[in-house]
Amino acid sequence: MTRTIRVDWWWIYGRILLNKQCYRKPNNYLILLSGLSASQYLSEGKKLIDEGISDFLPNGKSYPESIHEAMSYSLLAGGKRLRPVLVMAASEAVGGDRPAVLPFAVAAEMIHTYTLIHDDLPALDNDDLRRGKPTNHKVFGEATAILAGDALLTQAFILMTRAAGMESIPIDCILKATHEMASALGSTGMIGGQVVDLESEGKPINAETLEYIHIYKTGFLIRACIRCGGILSQATESQLNSLSRFGAHIGLAFQIIDDILDIIGDQEKLGKDIGSDLTKDKATYPALYGLDESKRKAEELVVESIKCLKEFDNRADPLREIARFFVQRTF
Ligand code: IPE
Ligand code: IPE
Ligand code: MG
Ligand code: MG
Ligand code: MG
Repeated sequence: MTRTIRVDWWWIYGRILLNKQCYRKPNNYLILLSGLSASQYLSEGKKLIDEGISDFLPNGKSYPESIHEAMSYSLLAGGKRLRPVLVMAASEAVGGDRPAVLPFAVAAEMIHTYTLIHDDLPALDNDDLRRGKPTNHKVFGEATAILAGDALLTQAFILMTRAAGMESIPIDCILKATHEMASALGSTGMIGGQVVDLESEGKPINAETLEYIHIYKTGFLIRACIRCGGILSQATESQLNSLSRFGAHIGLAFQIIDDILDIIGDQEKLGKDIGSDLTKDKATYPALYGLDESKRKAEELVVESIKCLKEFDNRADPLREIARFFVQRTF
């Protein structure tokens, strides 16, 4: 009799553990344990984000329909979802879990998509193709495209600050992460980089200015996503410093590879116009250093980035794998 009861208890205890594990450690944790690749981790994360987007975006049919349609058009057109996956991966690296930071991760993708819509405008890079489709202004007109970008940025801040869906995160962490994100985006962040990018078109530039452009226009948002994941999951000061250095390295590497793909990439795979930088005589790494040296620099940055994660255990493997993907990618 006693034995039967004990067996039942073990069974119940096992079920509780199992359920807890399924809830707290969704598929990607299992994926890593079984050593699957970065691309599998990314496609898993992309699925989560895509589901999150439909939950958090105002319905495409909401009045006024034109703006909501334009917002959905670019957001749902695809994209690698790297920035939101980085929010989730950084959270996991410090012991958090993905569902807890999902609204914030979706907000990061809204912000990124806003930067793309504006980047493609005739007044900026004047591109026709994005995520395999005509650019937002080509379909909805310039005025609506500008407003769709503005609205996505604003929607992101609604999502980051409403706290719903992030009940397990202390409010002061949400506040700190939101401040972090805003700081990365303004005139002393991403916008600053875009301004110098535009002002440098057709001019000879030095290495310092080029590095500024790339770190600010692209690196800042990438680093902010990583830092926000850490902040939301209560990273220690030392962990946050390491995540920052990691993010700074891969952020720059990401834009160097973007420059390279603009020359040697496959337009179909990339889903955006190639040769666009050459046409506008943009300040790029290949223009200053050549293709081989640019690739070498990006690879070196990724090697260095991984060294910044020394203090983390295997829960930081997704970050390490994503960093490797950053230089190996062809899209
Ligand atoms: C493109 O970013 C813009 C840059 C900052 C270089 P991505 O290459 O991440 O674009 P999507 O999100 O996959 O479309
Ligand atoms: C874009 O850099 C940076 C931002 C959107 C802030 P690029 O102009 O090189 O990006 P692509 O090549 O158009 O995607
Ligand atoms: Mg640009
Ligand atoms: Mg561009
Ligand atoms: Mg580019």
